[in-house]
Amino acid sequence: MKSLFITGTDTDVGKTYVAAGLAVTLRKMNIDVGIMKPFAAGSPQKTGFKSEDVEILSRAGQISDPENLVNPQFFKMSASPYTASKNLKIPVKVSSVLLSFKKLSKKHSMLLVEGMGGIMTPILKNYFVANLIKEMKLDALIVTRTRVGTINHTIMTCQMCKKYKIPIRGIIINNFDTDGYQLKTLKRDLKSLTGIPILGTIPYIENLSDTALFKSFKKNINMNLIIK
Ligand SMILES: Nc1ncnc2c1ncn2[C@@H]1O[C@H](COP(=O)(O)OP(=O)(O)OP(=O)(O)O)[C@@H](O)[C@H]1O
Ligand SMILES: [Mg+2]
Repeated sequence: MKSLFITGTDTDVGKTYVAAGLAVTLRKMNIDVGIMKPFAAGSPQKTGFKSEDVEILSRAGQISDPENLVNPQFFKMSASPYTASKNLKIPVKVSSVLLSFKKLSKKHSMLLVEGMGGIMTPILKNYFVANLIKEMKLDALIVTRTRVGTINHTIMTCQMCKKYKIPIRGIIINNFDTDGYQLKTLKRDLKSLTGIPILGTIPYIENLSDTALFKSFKKNINMNLIIK
């Protein structure tokens, strides 16, 4: 089973909830799934996990790995690792991320790694999310949305994966926008323009509980292509 790097066309596109939905579904398929968020950013939560993303992912995967292994670096500023590190004057810990990744990969049958922002989010000067995926030797899963502009963002993401020779497992369309393309039209055009399989679409989910995510993912996502 090959691990996956969950990237997206932008920040706030649904990477965390897609990764959480996959984590619950894989767990229910009796697959030992691990999760990772190499770099997280924002205001630390007051209780429990510092990172909300890590909390959502850990709960979904019923993970017992410590937060500092799952998320080796947390920046108290909502920005790319590059910008946060410059502003906060804290060095970016890429080697610690790669070490944690190695440990977690050994520990679990399949690891879901959630990226930060999009494919070209800077981590260091001349070192982007794409470089990290490449060093981890992972396939990418692209989360996209339906709002107009998504075709441009999806094509750019696919083109960058191609440039960095990152295999793309597929695209998941998070259909949570209230406006934008009709799903049928978007699927048709993304498929023909990128040549990448669409693994499914997720509707707007009112209550993003693990039960609701599982129900939706079981119905809407081609899990056979996820566990390839
Ligand atoms: N299918 C959905 N149904 C309802 N709401 C959703 C859905 N997907 C995402 N959302 C909402 O959109 C917000 C952003 O989603 P999410 O946190 O998964 O994005 P992200 O890509 O992980 O962002 P980041 O780049 O900050 O990690 C969430 O807080 C959630 O409330
Ligand atoms: Mg997230």
